Amino acid sequence: MRLFRSTALITSPFILALGLNACSADTTKPLEKTTEQAPIVKIVKDDKFTYANYDKVRMTHLSLNLDVNFEDKVLDGTATIDFKIIDDNAHTLHLDTKDLTIRSVQGLASSGEWSAMDYTLSDEDEILGTRLEIPFSKGMNKVRIDYKTSPTAEGLQWLSPEQTAGKEKPYLFSQAQALNARTMTPVQDTPAVRITYDATLRVPDGLLPLMSAEQSKKDKNGEYHFKMPQPIPSYLLAIAVGDIKFKAINDHIGVYAEQYILDASADEFSETPLMEASNAKLYGPYRWGRYDLIVLPPSFPFGGMENPRLSFMTPTLIAGDKSLTNVVAHELAHSWSGNLVTNSSWRDAWLNEGFTSYVENRVMEDLYGVERAVMEQVLGLEDVKRSIENASRPELTHLKLPTDLAHPDDAFTNVAYVKGQFFLQFLEQRFGRDNFDPFLKNYFNHFAFQSVTTEDFIKYLHDELHVKNPDALTSEELKAWVYGPGLPDTFITPISDAFTKVDAARTAWLDDGTVGDTSSWSTHEWLHFLNNFSETLSKEQLKKMNEDFNFNGHQNAEIAFAWYMQAIQGNYSKVDKELESFLMTVGRGKFIYRLYGALAGLNEDARTWAKEVYVKARPGYHPIAQRRIDAIFTKAEAKVEQ
Ligand code: BES
Ligand code: ZN
Repeated sequence: MRLFRSTALITSPFILALGLNACSADTTKPLEKTTEQAPIVKIVKDDKFTYANYDKVRMTHLSLNLDVNFEDKVLDGTATIDFKIIDDNAHTLHLDTKDLTIRSVQGLASSGEWSAMDYTLSDEDEILGTRLEIPFSKGMNKVRIDYKTSPTAEGLQWLSPEQTAGKEKPYLFSQAQALNARTMTPVQDTPAVRITYDATLRVPDGLLPLMSAEQSKKDKNGEYHFKMPQPIPSYLLAIAVGDIKFKAINDHIGVYAEQYILDASADEFSETPLMEASNAKLYGPYRWGRYDLIVLPPSFPFGGMENPRLSFMTPTLIAGDKSLTNVVAHELAHSWSGNLVTNSSWRDAWLNEGFTSYVENRVMEDLYGVERAVMEQVLGLEDVKRSIENASRPELTHLKLPTDLAHPDDAFTNVAYVKGQFFLQFLEQRFGRDNFDPFLKNYFNHFAFQSVTTEDFIKYLHDELHVKNPDALTSEELKAWVYGPGLPDTFITPISDAFTKVDAARTAWLDDGTVGDTSSWSTHEWLHFLNNFSETLSKEQLKKMNEDFNFNGHQNAEIAFAWYMQAIQGNYSKVDKELESFLMTVGRGKFIYRLYGALAGLNEDARTWAKEVYVKARPGYHPIAQRRIDAIFTKAEAKVEQ
């Protein structure tokens, strides 16, 4: 079916054919504007991972005043919350908390007086935490909560001095996405709600605190002050405290890190200004003031996290040859896709991650050429194919995820990233870059500082692109991408000539043990080489492979990881020493979840060995990684017992 040409949204067969709820089109109309660009919009509550009644009462600002207490491993102080009433019949504010100790709640009356308020805490839910319900009186729009966090808060990792590179000072860093802002502060912890924030922090002498905000120097009382004037979703709240040094890259971009890795990080990320320029050329100016990166301790469980003004990065990116800097392009790209225009629930995570992967790849193409961009697409394709094959049910391979999504963790698979990216590439192919680039730029402007659903995007696509190019795609094609499983028929496989040569080299190596000249191979080519053996390699082959290419203990974490995966599949225990050292020092989930998963699923010996390593490594892992790997072993052990 060709798409209907009408612009009349509600009646458009384009929209009707997709079965979209027409009334949600009305719900994003701004009711009023706050001082910043955050429109207070009436929204239907669509996020099941929050207790917040944000459709009735909406938080607008958070003001934190906290001691960072390394002795007790707690943040301790007050959170003052400004809120607006959306529904006049509402009399209670519902906030998310998890593992917080609430000592008291006060409210600011219209007289200007603070007074103690009643509050209730619900029973604890393992995923959601505890609802904090505060009944407020008429005219009240500010509450202050006296609280402290738990030493085992999932969103905070407290490292002892021995766990840092410098060995002398402790370190703290947060990870709020997806559901962990509520372990740091009471908050309406949903990406549908945007808040401005400020913070006053007290930290022990000799430590530097940083946040996802504008920072000012220590004041005369020894306190640090932070301000985030642009409205952000709670999952972008972030804090890091440690013996952290700074090196500028240019006048508004720089790197924070422990001293041991500062210069190497600044070198590795020296092209960040070019990435910013490329991004801005394509999608409009960077809107957040400074852009800094912080290279965290190795237990950081992600490659990167797009905390505004201050991306958090894993040290495993510091490969020495800038081969892994697409992760910088990715986190920076979130300054448009994700931080400026945000998925309004985790069911729409592809709006953050798929858009960002697309933008990341466009920037890589712009700066380093089509060949590198296509290689990264093909590596992504290899990942997404595996995720699609392993999905526990087909709905989890849709871009729009099902209502019964069990946990936001299930939303951040390669489907959101790579299928999302390929969908935008598909739209780009169909509408042409000349149309698609300005469309996307306008999308970021149109929805700036708002949270949007997949359906909002589709309506915008319809109004801005489809009606002007009605023959470019059909609603069935669109539906297959967004509401259908796997990669649809209209997906065009990216082909890398460089990888075709690598394929030939792999075949030759399997046939006669030779590969030809690999001296010019990039990290990408080695990864493609390693990841595409159609059969499990024998121990002899693995031995020869390591003799030929020296993968064991490779300094590039991606290559080392790809090699260990092959070695585990071939039950090649000669790698155990290096693999153990990798697992003991690297906490990046992308690597360690799959390594433990492969070991736990291989055989009893491997599972026992992995468990022994895990018992030793676990105290150094981030609480998020601990939860994920605990689940991997529980599942593997349950399978054995069956
Ligand atoms: N926002 C994500 C990290 C994240 C996802 C944190 C889900 C918590 C829950 C970040 O932007 C990201 O996608 N990081 C990737 C890097 C990227 C190049 C694919 C990662 O960590 O590997
Ligand atoms: Zn991302």
